[in-house]
Amino acid sequence: MSTESIKITINGTDYQVEKGARLIDVCRTNGHSVPSFCYYSDLALQASCRTCLVRIEKMPKLQTSCTITCTDGMVVTTESDEIEKARRGMVEFLLANHPLDCPVCDRGGECELQEMVFDWGGLEERFRERKNYAPEKYLSPVVANDPQRCILCKRCTRVCDEWMGEDAIEAGGRGVNTVIGTYGGWLNCSQCGNCIEVCPTGTLLDATYRHQARPWELSQTITTCTFCSDGC
Ligand code: SF4
Ligand code: SF4
Ligand code: SF4
Ligand code: FES
Repeated sequence: MSTESIKITINGTDYQVEKGARLIDVCRTNGHSVPSFCYYSDLALQASCRTCLVRIEKMPKLQTSCTITCTDGMVVTTESDEIEKARRGMVEFLLANHPLDCPVCDRGGECELQEMVFDWGGLEERFRERKNYAPEKYLSPVVANDPQRCILCKRCTRVCDEWMGEDAIEAGGRGVNTVIGTYGGWLNCSQCGNCIEVCPTGTLLDATYRHQARPWELSQTITTCTFCSDGC
């Protein structure tokens, strides 16, 4: 089946792309970096972090590139002072209650939030209020949880619902008091660990080797997953 090709322009360069392609993917494929937290290509759209903002000609406001489908003649800008200011503002909100305790966080070294803050540098911190405190806990023998590090991207809830069909983990509370939690305080689920895997921060962590090794000390081995009978 042939797919229709359309022309879009990103940062002054023309590209032929498949009609219906998602803008954030097209930008990244063509070397125009766009940050994101809530976007995860195999999961339903969430569009809550707003770090993927771009400018699209003839649209009145900055747009979330994770929700935009490319159309013929679209002219996109991914880098400008206006975009950087907006993205930095979003991350400042994400950090309003964040402990930034990277030296003792098991995700440190492979954390998407840490990487972004480190790469950008000089992030403004205008919130001087006392940060919300939420104690660390274990949700199961496999899943450790530090609620204060959560940026509410909801990758975990979507992965549990959409990939595992379990819906075992959910966001509760409102506003700044929203936290990711379980129904009843304990995860009665298959313990697949996918929520840990997709979490971009140190909020959901592997409890089996907690505080025992840093990511850069681990070595990777190609193996067959023994979690279930699929063995994929
Ligand atoms: S979640 Fe990331 S940014 Fe936050 S403390 Fe852990 S490593 Fe640092
Ligand atoms: S371990 Fe798997 S089944 Fe349990 S909450 Fe996480 S994603 Fe859902
Ligand atoms: S626990 Fe992790 S994956 Fe879930 S919403 Fe918080 S930061 Fe996102
Ligand atoms: S990645 Fe687009 S809104 Fe979060």
